[in-house]
Amino acid sequence: MIKALIFDLDGVIVDTAHYHFVAWQRLARELGIDFTEKDNERLKGVSRMRSLEIILEIGNRQMSESEKERLATRKNAWFVEYIQNVKPDEIFPGVKEMIQTCKAAGFRVALASSSKNARTVLRNLKVEDLFEGFVDGNMITHSKPNPEIFLKAAAQLGVEPQHCVVFEDAEAGVEAALAAGMKCVGVGSPENVGKANQIVKNTADFKLADLAGW
Ligand code: BG6
Ligand code: MG
Repeated sequence: MIKALIFDLDGVIVDTAHYHFVAWQRLARELGIDFTEKDNERLKGVSRMRSLEIILEIGNRQMSESEKERLATRKNAWFVEYIQNVKPDEIFPGVKEMIQTCKAAGFRVALASSSKNARTVLRNLKVEDLFEGFVDGNMITHSKPNPEIFLKAAAQLGVEPQHCVVFEDAEAGVEAALAAGMKCVGVGSPENVGKANQIVKNTADFKLADLAGW
């Protein structure tokens, strides 16, 4: 029986995944690395440093730790600049209402994002109060696909993992949810979230009735 819903942020609540892509592509161009939107799928859900390492792998480049730190900081500065302009109407259509409906039906709700900028995004969307639990990239040691982030969110809510369902748009996130012993609703295409228990095109397409029998 499901008692709690745990939401990823980038790509599930709002299209900040696109801002991550634009900032990484800007950095990749500076480095002379060809980095496509398809490559970007591998970056979804993983930490900032792991994202940079994947780009360097794609470009077959090696760098010192201090140089990697400098580049990751540079990318983040651009990303932070982009998300300053995030407005409440950028939340995906129907998502706020869907979460409110679930809460009214007695489900506990948490946000679990690998991003260290998650708080800023929630604040700019004006939905900070929507979530009873909150775990971001500053609060974990292992990024998705490690289950740590979802286990922390479940612990905050006081709900056992098997009673939680995670909403994820990233392959690494789906893997993390399943590794946590949770159910997973994949948001997007079967190509990226095919391992999820259920797939929806958009987050708000999910209906509480879908949980019957889980
Ligand atoms: C995740 C994104 O939510 O956060 C990743 O899906 C991103 O693409 C990660 O790399 C880390 O974000 P940040 O804001 O801490 O650099
Ligand atoms: Mg995501």
